[in-house]
Amino acid sequence: MTILDVKYLSKIYEGQVPRQALDNVQFSLLKGEFVGIMGPSGSGKTTLLNVIATIDEPTSGEIIINGVNPHQLGQTETALFRRHELGFVFQHFNLLDAMTVAENIVLPLSLDGVPVGEMEQKLNDMASKLGISDILDRRIYECSGGQMQRAAIARALIHKPSLILADEPTGNLDSKASDDVMRTLGSLNGEEEATILMVTHDPVAASFCKRVIFIKDGRFYNEIYRGDNRQGFFQRIIDMLSLLGGDRHVLSTIRL
Ligand SMILES: Nc1ncnc2c1ncn2[C@@H]1O[C@H](COP(=O)(O)OP(=O)(O)OP(=O)(O)O)[C@@H](O)[C@H]1O
Ligand SMILES: [Mg+2]
Repeated sequence: MTILDVKYLSKIYEGQVPRQALDNVQFSLLKGEFVGIMGPSGSGKTTLLNVIATIDEPTSGEIIINGVNPHQLGQTETALFRRHELGFVFQHFNLLDAMTVAENIVLPLSLDGVPVGEMEQKLNDMASKLGISDILDRRIYECSGGQMQRAAIARALIHKPSLILADEPTGNLDSKASDDVMRTLGSLNGEEEATILMVTHDPVAASFCKRVIFIKDGRFYNEIYRGDNRQGFFQRIIDMLSLLGGDRHVLSTIRL
């Protein structure tokens, strides 16, 4: 079953000098896939994610998520669509600092008026999957980066959205926390059949995906599949990045 269909997608930012950020991009995601998006700085990754997230409009082409083109919905419907069908995980976590971990995680449910009993059950279930059951009462500012990111993932998944969108989810984490978060995303992807699309610069993080799509100059460039050897996949990602070129810092920031 197709969860995300990206069709002939183009995006031109108008301005004094119009800039084509996406050029005829096409790909699709099946239910339960875990896909990484990589490419040099400025290649259009964030633009792509924003258009899929309905944060930004495409210039031409379309996006179908679970059978619906969200760009054809009205304002209220778009907001509801986003809340029900999508889960977001960002580099800067976007958690509410003065609230507890538990309050942050159940936010999407409280917005929908889910009964308290059901909310607590889902909260405990999700927290135990992410290994954060013992910090639910802690305020966000008292958490480590890795704990914050796991809380953000719990919040993105608690309402079982069709599609999880992540932009550099490990960008602010050290390598240990980053590996923990990627392992967690990998196992949630396996257990919950969560469909995940993740932008990353980090080849180690990308090697947890089942497939990585490379874009360059706003165009689909290539894609590779993991198979069952993560180390070998990591090497193929590195090779593809050096072939892509243009982004020296990608290779210089690799942590081993
Ligand atoms: N709001 C905007 N207005 C005009 N041009 C933009 C805007 N946002 C992005 N661009 C341009 O579109 C192109 C793609 O940008 P985008 O942010 O999607 O790249 P990216 O692949 O996410 O890069 P990075 O890896 O540095 O985050 C770039 O040339 C950028 O300068
Ligand atoms: Mg970006």
